[in-house]
Amino acid sequence: MSNSGIAVLISGRGSNLRAILQSPIGDEVCAVISDNSEAAGLELAAEHNKPAFIISVDDFDSVEDFNEKFIELLQAIAPKIIALAGFMRILPPVIVGAFEGKMVNIHPSLLPQFAGLNTHARALAAGVDKHGCTVHWVNDTVDGGEIIAQREVAVLPDDNEEILAARVLEQEHLLYSQVLAKLLAD
Ligand code: GRF
Repeated sequence: MSNSGIAVLISGRGSNLRAILQSPIGDEVCAVISDNSEAAGLELAAEHNKPAFIISVDDFDSVEDFNEKFIELLQAIAPKIIALAGFMRILPPVIVGAFEGKMVNIHPSLLPQFAGLNTHARALAAGVDKHGCTVHWVNDTVDGGEIIAQREVAVLPDDNEEILAARVLEQEHLLYSQVLAKLLAD
């Protein structure tokens, strides 16, 4: 096992993956893994000559088989850090436990506020004046692991979901590569 580099896990658009690849730690990305063969982010992996792996639960007889292969794949890649970047699958304890202290996620809210989905709409509905993003360790609670770092944005009077999401995403792109650089250096 090499235990170096970052494996980035995606399910879709991949804008955080793009930001990581274009950051000073881009060379440290050793693999891109998607649970969705249609994920646009897979094209970024090809553009940057990164090994890409597709592992979809639909291709397995059972979730348990999927989990086993998922663990085997990550163990074979042996990254120092596993970065979930818009990876939409909730990982079960068997996977989380296999990579304790290695797996981080970025979430588009100031956790512990607004864990789960539709964070921007929920922030607007709640009338908060600050919103943002969080990088946290992954544990068995969805979006519940220890917080590593956050970035705030102001919620402005004319915001709608789309405008607010874009403001937060800009901060996500800055935050994630900074945190990953620090984790790699530690
Ligand atoms: C981001 O908002 C991230 O915080 C959340 O899912 C979204 C993924 O976007 N977990 P992208 O695929 O990185 O563009």
